[in-house]
Amino acid sequence: MVNDSADIIVIGAGIIGCAIAYELALRGARVRVFDARDIALGATQASAGVLAPYIEAHEEGALRDLCTRSLALYDDFIARLRQDAHGPTQYFRTGTLETASDDASAARLKATAAALDGMGVRAEYLESADVRRAEPALAPETPGGLLVHTHGFVGARELAHALAEAAGRRGTPVERTCAVHRVTSDKTGISLDTDNGVVRASTIVLAAGSWTGQIPIAGVKPPPVRPIRGQLLSLNWIGEPLKRVVWGPSCYLVPWTNGSLLVGATAEEAGFDERATVAGVRDLLDAVSELVPRAWQAGFSGVRVGLRPATPDELPMIGRSTVMDGLVYATGHYRNGILLAPLTAKLVADLLIDGREGAELELTKPQRFGAC
Ligand code: GLY
Repeated sequence: MVNDSADIIVIGAGIIGCAIAYELALRGARVRVFDARDIALGATQASAGVLAPYIEAHEEGALRDLCTRSLALYDDFIARLRQDAHGPTQYFRTGTLETASDDASAARLKATAAALDGMGVRAEYLESADVRRAEPALAPETPGGLLVHTHGFVGARELAHALAEAAGRRGTPVERTCAVHRVTSDKTGISLDTDNGVVRASTIVLAAGSWTGQIPIAGVKPPPVRPIRGQLLSLNWIGEPLKRVVWGPSCYLVPWTNGSLLVGATAEEAGFDERATVAGVRDLLDAVSELVPRAWQAGFSGVRVGLRPATPDELPMIGRSTVMDGLVYATGHYRNGILLAPLTAKLVADLLIDGREGAELELTKPQRFGAC
């Protein structure tokens, strides 16, 4: 039985699906969102929300290009969202401090500081005394660090929920615990066999993260997206909070205004296993205590686990299928789904609403992995 239709159906209510749904709804499309579970699970549930292109992509290249363009959209993305939803309340551009651990990493960070400065990015290298003045909790032997003033962080789960709320206000509610079992197409459009019956649409956007390849689409090979598990700790920090995101050799730290400190993250090939492990927690506790020894005094409030969707080249797949009319990919954002959400939403909406192919789609073409 066909229960309803929409112009566009988004599959997946993580950060990417919610950002796309909101952008499409803002531009007047009739959209529905389906998720087999709920909003902000998958990779989003374990994201610390760090917005740091010059750390995630140390070298110039496609990833850095995409991430810096998306970061440039962030202030407006958040300001606009706050008019339509409660939140996110945690959005800060207080910078990042990436610490050196030895002479080689200090030399590399110094060179990066000089290169960024040459490109007009506000960044500086701090020697040992200055790095501890900037963040007194750092281990005394920290040799130095790279301060990038333009970086920041955002409450990732809060952001996804705010996007879903804002999309809902614009007539696009998320249909939770509604799995899509099969997608087929014919000359009249696309049919989705879902837990809520058969739904028809002219376009579907596949934004199911690690689960993208598990949705059977007739005649289309599953895309090469695989899960990489990330475990993230939450500590109750005692004493003066960190002033910004601190990125060490084996973990990164995000200070929240409620006094908790997020410690991320493992990167593990563990299939679809979403359990926290003793080894993951131990590794992160060791890493944080080396970086900021006072962490041993912190309270332990929990561990979150998410599956990041990785492609073979670690770049996202955004663009139209060349095999099925009306199928669009927006997946495979790996470590940078939160950072790349504004750009991804814009690219997909430009493509679907305005028929405009952003230049960035050249870098994210799904067909670089073969026909799909
Ligand atoms: N973007 C940080 C991480 O995926 O752990």
